Order: sequence, then C-alpha cells, then structure tokens
Amino acid sequence: MKILITGGAGYIGSTIASALLDAGHTPILLDSLITGRKEFAKLHTFYHADIADQEAVRQIFSDHPDIYATIHCAALIVVPESVAKPFEYYNENVVKSMSFFKQLSELGYNRVVFSSSAAIYDVVPGFMVREDSALLPLSPYSRTKYMMEMVLKDFCHAYGLNAIALRYFNPIGADPKMRTGLHIQFPSHLIGKLVSVAMGHEEVFNLTGVDWPTRDGSGIRDYIHVWDLAQAHLKAVEHFEKAIKEGSEEGLPYTAINLGSGNGVTVKEFVAAFEKVYGQKVPVAIKPPRPGDIAGAYANADRAEKLLGWKAEMSIEDGIRDALKWGQVRDTIIHY
Ligand SMILES: NC(=O)c1ccc[n+]([C@@H]2O[C@H](COP(=O)([O-])OP(=O)(O)OC[C@H]3O[C@@H](n4cnc5c(N)ncnc54)[C@H](O)[C@@H]3O)[C@@H](O)[C@H]2O)c1
Repeated sequence: MKILITGGAGYIGSTIASALLDAGHTPILLDSLITGRKEFAKLHTFYHADIADQEAVRQIFSDHPDIYATIHCAALIVVPESVAKPFEYYNENVVKSMSFFKQLSELGYNRVVFSSSAAIYDVVPGFMVREDSALLPLSPYSRTKYMMEMVLKDFCHAYGLNAIALRYFNPIGADPKMRTGLHIQFPSHLIGKLVSVAMGHEEVFNLTGVDWPTRDGSGIRDYIHVWDLAQAHLKAVEHFEKAIKEGSEEGLPYTAINLGSGNGVTVKEFVAAFEKVYGQKVPVAIKPPRPGDIAGAYANADRAEKLLGWKAEMSIEDGIRDALKWGQVRDTIIHY
C-alpha cells in the first residue's frame, strides 16, 4: 500500500516510513523541513512542501492516486516554545492541519491517522489513563492536539473523513537499524538529557521534582520504543477499516487509541535502568519541579490491542540501548 506521511522527515514520521517500507509498503513523505531532516527524507519518495501548500498536495495525489491513507505527523512539538509562540503553534498545528484535512476530504482521500498525544490527559488517581479518562491539556502545544481531535471528529461527521487519533505516550530509542532517530541537537527531555550526560555534553542530570505522590516521589511516565510506535501505525493502516468500525465513537467513523506500553515507570527507575544499560553511574542533581511539570500518567493500552492487534514488545532497556547507539552514529548521518 502507498501511505502519505506528513512530517515524514521528523523523528517519528521517519521511523514510521522505515517500518512501512520493511513491511512491503510504500511511504510517500511530505515535509517542509521546518524541523525535519533532509537526510531522512532522501531515503524515500519525498515532497518538500508545507501541508498548507494546496498545489503541492494536489500534485502528490495526482502523482500517486493509489495512496491508501494519510498519516499526519507534521507539527511543531516543543512545549515551552508553544508557551512563548502560541500563534505559530495554533497556526501550524491547527489552522494548517484543518485546511489540509479539508483538502484531503475534497480530493476523496478520507483515511487519516493523526499523531495525538498523551499530554492532553488530566492527572488521575493511580496515574493510569484510558481513552475516556478526563482530558486537561495544559500548554498551547497540547491544546493544539486536543483541538485537532475535536476538529477531526466534526470533519468525520460533516465531510466523510475517517480518522484514528493515536495518543502517543513518551517515545524513546531509534530505528533499530539506525537509519533514523532523534535529530534534535540538544534535546530537553529525560532520555535526551541522560544521553547528553553519557556523551559528555553535559556534566550532570537534573532530576526535577521528587515530591510527587508516586511510589518514589519522582514523576511517572510511560516510555514506548519508537519502533513499537511505528509498528502501531503499520497496524493502524493495515487494519484501518476494522479499527474504525469497532472503535467508532458516538456513531462516527472516528476513534482515539492510546499508544503506550501500559507500564508506569518513574524517573528514578528510568535513571537506574539507564545506568544499568550504560554500565556507569550518572551524576544526578535533585531540583524542584519546572513550571508546568505534572506527576504524570501511563497508558491503559487495552484498546490498541483490541482494535489494532498491537501491543508494545520492546523494553525500556531496548529503548535506552538504541538511544545510546543512535547518539554514537547520529553525527555521521546528520550534517548539522
Ligand atoms: N516526540 C514526542 O515525544 C511526541 C509525543 C506525542 C506526540 N507527538 C507527535 O508526533 C508527531 C511527530 O513528532 P516528532 O517527535 O517526530 O517531531 P519532529 O519535529 O521530529 O517531526 C515533525 C515534522 O513535521 C514537519 N513539519 C512541521 N510543520 C510542517 C508543515 N506545516 N508542513 C510540512 N511539514 C511540517 C517538520 O519539519 C518535522 O519533520 C507530532 O505531531 C507530535 O506532536 C510527538
């Protein structure tokens, strides 16, 4: 099958492209390269354009009328930046995505898989969230994901779109074959920071927040290997009709699905796992929580298994090992 991936030159989109390719499908990438990498784009059929460029989108479907579905990963994704630049975030992630989805429906390409986020959930007692748990997006970034889920639902109602919103938890690792990985030079999230310390780019790992009501006081998350995440997209396009039919919400051809491992892991536990794989202690400094930090959440992943026949298979140790490996090869693949 031919699958269009917007944001296909980014971290997750490029991994999905490799997973589709390895399974015998043909990914077609559309990316503006605003943050994505040309080194990843050149591995596949690639259109260098913005999702809002209607002429370019028309050209893609005219060149590839047999595209079966669109996986929409294109977005700006940095939470603190979204607080400082809400216009850019609402414009890229909401305004442009809306016109892109409208164009898809007008062109008759109605199958959409949307990159949503676990960041839209409220914190719940026990920290495990199901798809129907309370939502409370706290940043402009997470509000763009929340809004797009609502927009998609309305478009499914009015314009004949069929959509699966996949709510990602915390992706880690890289393509196990090291074709692609996290491309940001100085990542600010947990594993990126730990790899930075391991590579000698930073001296100490700042553990922010140790008074949360979790089993050891540090924040809790659900880490999912990016390759597992990519496999879920493969299943989502291969079982698209079944997922839409059996997962239908409010009678609409729309469903939201958590993509997580189903295991909550605290930051302290993650650091211990990192040290085990890395084979050395990491210098840690305890700091207060950063503004906007929350205790966290982990997925109930039953729905993904039921609707997509997917569950996470790789461990956090696999993710840490692949992130470290990627840290070593990255600069031979990406030329900053
Ligand atoms: N990385 C995470 O932790 C995480 C967690 C939950 C959800 N997500 C979602 O997954 C998706 C992919 O994230 P990622 O980590 O791969 O980010 P990324 O920045 O690596 O990839 C995003 C890609 O989209 C492209 N892009 C942005 N705006 C565009 C536009 N207007 N037109 C065309 N291309 C455009 C960028 O150039 C980039 O290649 C995003 O929608 C993100 O919100 C990511």
